[in-house]
Amino acid sequence: MEKKNIDWGNIGFGYMQSDYRYVSCYKDGKWDDGQLTTDPNITLNECAGVFQYAQTVFEGLKAYTTEDGKIVCFRPDLNASRLADSAKRLEMPVFPEDRFVEAVKQVVKANEAMVPPYGSGATLYIRPYMMGTNPVIGVKPADEYMFRIFVTPVGPYFKGGAKPITIKVSDFDRAAPHGTGHIKAGLNYAMSLHAIVTAHDEGYAENMYLDPATRSKVEETGGANFIFITKDGKLVTPKSDSILPSITRRSLMVVAEKYLGMEVEHREVALSELSDFAECGLCGTAAVISPVGKIVDHGKEICFPSGMDEMGPTIKKLYDTLTGIQMGTIEAPEGWICEIA
Ligand code: PLP
Ligand code: COI
Repeated sequence: MEKKNIDWGNIGFGYMQSDYRYVSCYKDGKWDDGQLTTDPNITLNECAGVFQYAQTVFEGLKAYTTEDGKIVCFRPDLNASRLADSAKRLEMPVFPEDRFVEAVKQVVKANEAMVPPYGSGATLYIRPYMMGTNPVIGVKPADEYMFRIFVTPVGPYFKGGAKPITIKVSDFDRAAPHGTGHIKAGLNYAMSLHAIVTAHDEGYAENMYLDPATRSKVEETGGANFIFITKDGKLVTPKSDSILPSITRRSLMVVAEKYLGMEVEHREVALSELSDFAECGLCGTAAVISPVGKIVDHGKEICFPSGMDEMGPTIKKLYDTLTGIQMGTIEAPEGWICEIA
């Protein structure tokens, strides 16, 4: 398979149009068979549910080229089930989970020329999403929906690659109200745009969001969950019903315990205990594990001992093990790797 002429080592996290995308439509209570299309544009009625009441949900996962040249993706069944949860919360029909995985495979295979080679530093980001398509003017769910998947090759999510970033404690909440924080819905991300622009304007890479009720507990960032390493080498990660249940975080909890023999604590994390941790990182599909060197809480700086030059040693081990599993150099737990080609 001849690859596209792309400078894989120097791409950032952006959109690059690929040749094929997947589309399936829901009408009269059922999904059609779905197909690949070359048309990247969507034409919808001006009154479509997605435009009026933001009835849209999405997912994010990646495809990787392994050391022996296979193309695989990581735990797509968990993205399928999280998309189903997101859809239910926004009164949308569920796209069948087995069909989700098949559609991911189909669209990645069709765009094989855009799957970055092993060792290039880039991966193929896969974006499944779903929206209400028919006109709705009273506040109610749509009757018709479109499920689509496009792919785009991506590099590191944060500028500077693996260099530690500085983040701020935000005065805003990440998610839209009414307990939607645990789902991946467009409305949550729309509500976070002002906060991310504010943080960037002030020179920070991301926001640390706190629990809205007490503003004393750590939740997550705009696009990733937190992991912390204690001075005695435990992995601590915030537990909250209002953060996105990150597949990367759930996987890292297993990696830490089963591969690295670490103790893992999934619990509430107080803002006041941040200065006790040795290392901090952001984990997610896009972020992989991005080290955090400093957190600024309204003028008070919390600097982690791992510093601003490189990843801390324990986060590095987690990173190497997780990416080793994803790229096929370390044996994966049963069912984690889905072979595509
Ligand atoms: N939290 C938020 C708000 C996200 O957007 C993401 C990315 O999907 C994550 C966490 C990480 O989730 P995952 O590891 O499943 O990609
Ligand atoms: C992901 O990691 O897949 C995300 O959705 C994060 C971000 C791009 C919003």
